[in-house]
Formats: sequence, structure tokens, C-alpha cells
Amino acid sequence: MSARTYALGLICLLVFLLGSSTTQAQASDYVELCNLTSSIAVDLSQLSGIWWEVARQPSATDFCTEVNITVLPNQVQDNVLIDTTYAVSPDYPWVNQTMNATITVENVTIEQDGFNFTYWNPPGYTPYTVYKVLYTDYTDATLICGYTNQTDMSTSFGIILSRDRVLTTDALNKLESFAFGLSSNFLNGTMSVITQGESFIPSSCYAPSGADPSTIVSMLLIALAFIIVNCVDRQLI
Ligand SMILES: *[C@@H]1O[C@H](CO)[C@@H](O)[C@H](O)[C@H]1NC(C)=O
Ligand SMILES: *[C@@H]1O[C@H](CO)[C@@H](O)[C@H](O)[C@H]1NC(C)=O
Ligand SMILES: *[C@@H]1O[C@H](CO)[C@@H](O)[C@H](O)[C@H]1NC(C)=O
Ligand SMILES: *[C@@H]1O[C@H](CO)[C@@H](O)[C@H](O)[C@H]1NC(C)=O
Ligand SMILES: *[C@@H]1O[C@H](CO)[C@@H](O)[C@H](O)[C@H]1NC(C)=O
Ligand SMILES: *[C@@H]1O[C@H](CO)[C@@H](O)[C@H](O)[C@H]1NC(C)=O
Ligand SMILES: *[C@@H]1O[C@H](CO)[C@@H](O)[C@H](O)[C@H]1NC(C)=O
Ligand SMILES: *[C@@H]1O[C@H](CO)[C@@H](O)[C@H](O)[C@H]1NC(C)=O
Repeated sequence: MSARTYALGLICLLVFLLGSSTTQAQASDYVELCNLTSSIAVDLSQLSGIWWEVARQPSATDFCTEVNITVLPNQVQDNVLIDTTYAVSPDYPWVNQTMNATITVENVTIEQDGFNFTYWNPPGYTPYTVYKVLYTDYTDATLICGYTNQTDMSTSFGIILSRDRVLTTDALNKLESFAFGLSSNFLNGTMSVITQGESFIPSSCYAPSGADPSTIVSMLLIALAFIIVNCVDRQLI
């Protein structure tokens, strides 16, 4: 499948999903404070696999972050493995590190208090952090809120995970708008974007060298124009 067809499919799907939003797993009400909501019931099999962190609020040092969720079938305890790989420094985006967590999650079950866990980051651990899944459609995006202190919401954050490593600005804006409508942990159009360059984009994730960035940007804009035209065509059918 060509990159263009692929991007086209994604955008059309996003437009469709944001327009319907009936079949996805999601919190029913607007979430003012992350500590007052629960983690929605998710189908673990569908949630598993690779996700890319594309935006976060408030901003952190995250860079080129991949989340790999593995579900061990027929296992009740410690059944979900999470490997999060991130670039160590923006100066060396091709040098990465992996943190691991193993947690117990019941399939398709609402988790009132979310998931409070720590990542193993040899030789240390990150602080305990609560994560709650607010929404997922399994195929495009997952929205997560969390905090490190339940009674201090200034420690809370929002994360947008995407199945696609690189989103167009348009697709990302649509996701942020949707997330903002769902929870105060997200901002509309102004979230901190996590760098997720594919290897052909220079000075980006895992690519020490490459082409001129300005060329890439204009090519993306042309591609986007094509996509919009094609989406309109499709909707007319
Ligand atoms: C979770 O439940 C769904 C729906 O019942 C099922 O299709 C899936 O196989 C289950 N996954 C696991 C890991 O149990
Ligand atoms: C994701 O994690 C699982 C379990 O550790 C591993 O088998 C798999 O290769 C990983 N996938 C990627 C793309 O790293
Ligand atoms: C981590 O870096 C290696 C090269 O050092 C690269 O092959 C791998 O794809 C990177 N991990 C991710 C998640 O992209
Ligand atoms: C963490 O995950 C990485 C990548 O899957 C793996 O290489 C490493 O052995 C894991 N470490 C632990 C302690 O499980
Ligand atoms: C998470 O668990 C740790 C260890 O049990 C606990 O100290 C901490 O208070 C918990 N955090 C939240 C926000 O519930
Ligand atoms: C959590 O926040 C409350 C209110 O700001 C504060 O009193 C408490 O010390 C904090 N707890 C921790 C473990 O930082
Ligand atoms: C949720 O956070 C708010 C603001 O930080 C705090 O006032 C409230 O007590 C917390 N509620 C619970 C149930 O922890
Ligand atoms: C987000 O901002 C866009 C552009 O300003 C606006 O059209 C959209 O309605 C906003 N979304 C929400 C949920 O407020």
C-alpha cells in the first residue's frame, strides 16, 4: 500500500470516527478531574500492539515514544506487559531506552481507580503513577489521563496515543479537539506534540541523516491537499 493510500485511509477513517463515535469504548460524560473518573472497560486483545505517543499535556521531556502492549492469554495475574521505548535525548534521537511494566488487568472491565504502577527502568523505578483509559477506538487513537497524587490534580496529565507514528497536523488537531471535548486534561490544538519522525525525516527518531526538511514539509502539504479532495469525493459516494 502506498503512503498516500495509507494516509488517505487514516484521514477518512478519522473523519468517519469523529463523526459517528457510537461503537468505540469511551467515558460517557465530560471528565473535569481525572481522579473523579474511572478507566473504561477495554478489550485487551484489541488494545494490544504498538502505539505511538503523539501529544501530551503538560509537556514533558518525551521524545520518539513507542508503547508496546502485550497481553498474555489465559493468564489472570500479571497478564499485561507494557514496554515503553523512548529516545534518550533530542540530540541523539536514534539512541533509545526501554522501560517495562507488568500489570494485572481484567478484560472488558471498568477499573474504578485506574492502574497505579511503576515502570522498571534499570537499575531504578519511575514514581508510581495512576493511568486511566478515557477512550479508545483500538484502530486509531487511545486517550489516557493520569496523575501521581490523587488529591493534587496539578500532577495530572493527558496523553494521546496513535496507531500511526506520524499524524498530519489536521489529523492531530481533530484528535485534540475530540479529546478536549472529553476531558480537561487535553487542550484543543495546543498540546505539546511528541516528535515522531519517520526515518526519512532528518534529525528525527532513529535517523541520524536525511533529506532537506523544507522539501518534506511541502510534500506533506501537497499530499494533504490530495487527501482532503479524495475524502470529499468519498463522502459524496
Ligand atoms: C477479551 O474479551 C473479548 C470480548 O469478549 C474477546 O474477544 C478477547 O479475546 C478477550 N481477550 C482476552 C485477552 O481475554
Ligand atoms: C512488543 O513486546 C513483545 C513482548 O515483549 C515482543 O515480543 C514484541 O517483539 C514487541 N514488539 C515490538 C515491535 O517491539
Ligand atoms: C531503538 O533504536 C534502534 C537502533 O538503535 C532501532 O533499531 C529501533 O527501531 C529503535 N526503537 C524503536 C521503538 O523505534
Ligand atoms: C524490557 O523490555 C525490553 C524490550 O522488550 C527487553 O529487552 C528487556 O529485557 C526488558 N527488561 C525487563 C527487566 O523485563
Ligand atoms: C500508588 O501506589 C503507591 C504504592 O502502593 C502508593 O504509595 C500511592 O499513594 C498510589 N498513588 C495513588 C495516586 O493512588
Ligand atoms: C498530595 O497532594 C496533597 C495536596 O496538595 C499534599 O498535601 C500531599 O502531601 C501530596 N502527597 C504526596 C505523596 O506528595
Ligand atoms: C480530586 O482532586 C481535587 C483537586 O486536586 C481534590 O480537591 C479532590 O479531593 C480529589 N478527589 C479525590 C476523590 O481524591
Ligand atoms: C477545537 O478548536 C477548533 C478550532 O478552533 C474548533 O472548531 C472546535 O470546535 C474545538 N473543539 C472543541 C471540543 O471545543
